[in-house]
Amino acid sequence: MARQRILSGIQPTGDLHLGNYLGALRNWVDLQKDYDCFLFMADLHAITVPHDPTVLAENTYKTAAIYLAAGIDVDTVSTIFVQSHVTAHSELGWLLTCITPLNWLQDMVQFKEKAIRQGEKVGAGLLCYPALQAADILLYEPDKVPVGEDQKQHLELTRDITIRMNDQFGTPDDPVLKMPEPMIRKEGARIMSLTDGSKKMSKSDPSDLSRINLLDPPELIQKKVKKCKTDPARGLEFDNPDRPECHNLLSLYMLMSNQTKKAVAEECREMGWGQFKPLLAETIVEGLRPIQEKYHEIRGDEGYLESVLQRGQEKANAIAHQTLSKVKQAMGYTIPS
Ligand code: AMP
Ligand code: TRP
Repeated sequence: MARQRILSGIQPTGDLHLGNYLGALRNWVDLQKDYDCFLFMADLHAITVPHDPTVLAENTYKTAAIYLAAGIDVDTVSTIFVQSHVTAHSELGWLLTCITPLNWLQDMVQFKEKAIRQGEKVGAGLLCYPALQAADILLYEPDKVPVGEDQKQHLELTRDITIRMNDQFGTPDDPVLKMPEPMIRKEGARIMSLTDGSKKMSKSDPSDLSRINLLDPPELIQKKVKKCKTDPARGLEFDNPDRPECHNLLSLYMLMSNQTKKAVAEECREMGWGQFKPLLAETIVEGLRPIQEKYHEIRGDEGYLESVLQRGQEKANAIAHQTLSKVKQAMGYTIPS
């Protein structure tokens, strides 16, 4: 039987952080055992908030190099590519925008949160972005879409858009689009901010102290862990709703040290913050060290990165174009030969 396919992406806005790694990237690396993986840098999504053209391309390359450094294997089962290099994304994005009811988009939590921050200047792209995300996914007919918890609503919307397209333009025996399934792992699906355990760790938080970036040098990681928010209670424990920071930091330690929850709960039960914080910082530094080393090696050879992205574009383009043609035909467009 043919291997199943996964598709996922990360926006190349700013630096990737531990939330991106534990919620998405690290899972993709594991999933390569069982799936063919299509992974991309969502640079069309990166302009839904005001952006700086002088850093857009650099951030895209940086993100690609981090995928490779984390263990995405483009020589065997994985394809990485830049979203804007495959024009079918914009085109299918438009077709899907036109069949998506406005109120579905207005209900998206991420839109509401980001729109509030931008006030009156908010662009229409921020509203339409989930229809573009649906296009990103549906073009590749993936079986599973591995993402963090925050993307669950966008995945549900993608499924609703699929039903609508198939109802309006397909037949039960010949659906236009293949229904994708989200894949959200419980552990690591929602890493919280270091400065507020009730908010997710995010690239858009104005404070850099709220997150650990994958390329932060060891001294900076130590400083961020030292300064992170804690509480005055004695002993450390998981799952106490009154202690969200404690739960988050123990979870980070558990994930970065590859231990079970039970083992970490026992090891840390009697610890104070003064003992735990250096242990956590060291574990993160050591966990990220090989990725950082590999990253710098990859960035030393831009020709290699270029060739990976070119191969990725060719493979992605071939698949994406087929799906796009099918949708256009179903919607009544002629396809020039
Ligand atoms: P973004 O940075 O918004 O492009 O997110 C890229 C991927 O990382 C998506 O699969 C997100 O669900 C995941 N992600 C982002 N922030 C977090 C977080 N704090 N915890 C877990 N996963 C996250
Ligand atoms: N919207 C996602 C995020 O902000 C990134 C993304 C864009 C994505 N297109 C995608 C993730 C398709 C999975 C599949 O995190």
